[in-house]
Amino acid sequence: MNRTILILLLILAVSCQQKTKKTVTVMKIISGTVEQENFQTTYKNLKTDLFTIQNQNGIVLQVTNYGAKIVTLFVPDKSGNSGDIVFGYEKIADYLEGDKYFGAVVGRYANRIAAGKFTLDGKDYQLPKNEGGKNLLHGGDSGFDDAVWTGEVIETPEGKAVKLNLVSPDGDQGFPGTLNVEVIYTLTDKNELIVDYKAVTDKPTVINLSQHSYFNLAGHAAGPILSHELVLNADRFTPVDENLIPTGEIRPVEGTAFDFRTPHLIGERIANTEEQVVLGKGYDHNFILNKEKSGDLTFAASAYEKGSGRFMEVYTTHPAIQFYTGNFLDGSQIGKDGNKYVYRSGFCLETQYYPDSPNHPDFPSTVLRPGEEYKHRTVFKFSVK
Ligand code: BGC
Repeated sequence: MNRTILILLLILAVSCQQKTKKTVTVMKIISGTVEQENFQTTYKNLKTDLFTIQNQNGIVLQVTNYGAKIVTLFVPDKSGNSGDIVFGYEKIADYLEGDKYFGAVVGRYANRIAAGKFTLDGKDYQLPKNEGGKNLLHGGDSGFDDAVWTGEVIETPEGKAVKLNLVSPDGDQGFPGTLNVEVIYTLTDKNELIVDYKAVTDKPTVINLSQHSYFNLAGHAAGPILSHELVLNADRFTPVDENLIPTGEIRPVEGTAFDFRTPHLIGERIANTEEQVVLGKGYDHNFILNKEKSGDLTFAASAYEKGSGRFMEVYTTHPAIQFYTGNFLDGSQIGKDGNKYVYRSGFCLETQYYPDSPNHPDFPSTVLRPGEEYKHRTVFKFSVK
């Protein structure tokens, strides 16, 4: 059966079931051009596929094992209409030619490493400088976004989940150590999308994994995100140079366009002439999350879109979050429903460690050693207001 019809029927079935208990609006899929068969192919001699899970309240998640990418995320709005709120493409071929970071798990090192260089235990490593020949970005020429993971749908005590695994060999993109990585996306009936990360290594290495979905709570094809209201639980951020590399300074957000401790529209200060906004071409910065104890699962961010009423909260064990406003989008990427992803039509809230940490000994360490486990959780929680 056609995938779209299947999803629609699933949602209708759940809605009807619930209707007997309480009155709920029948969910309507307003977009749905993603078909499983367009994801079933072979890349790097490995099979790619599309996995679909849903919760009891009409949230549907589709994930491909190519790059552990979130392809669609259907979330009901305040009228009960379900809409797809993440960027993506309709087939693997488009992912191979398009923006490879849409919805991906980025690694082995998310964000930038200056000049693609770092030293660990006295040994120098040179990584690809895949960002304009200057820096490493999101793990190199062929990072985890470009790897075929193994994937399966599983049941967990918290809900249905898609489990993805990857073995990144010693020397992959210049990084030392064989890294065994696991990412699990779980949909709970409390309307949470949980992202669990785990990794172990057989040699000392550095690691920074993040989820790189572009969100637009009005719908993935709804245009500019400037009227979303954002909160970031961060008193401080890491200013950058012209190459978006942290200068090393830790700066208070107080009195700047980076102060989102109370709700502000994304667009309110994005055209400010302050140096950091100009250098970032808008927001493309790492915010240091307020935490009493490192590693605790705490509130990081929220975004609210008035028209749809959709409200998303982000909780994480990660120490920081990269807030990026799609400043490099230019409409050249044509995604689901034939939509052109135009300038600033999606935003990313990438929980992670600080960029370029291997070159900043005073930043929280991203070193992972044999016998240790990299273990983190990020929760995206959806509701309406
Ligand atoms: C970076 C942006 C970059 C984008 C690519 C973000 O994490 O901060 O500068 O253009 O990823 O998708």
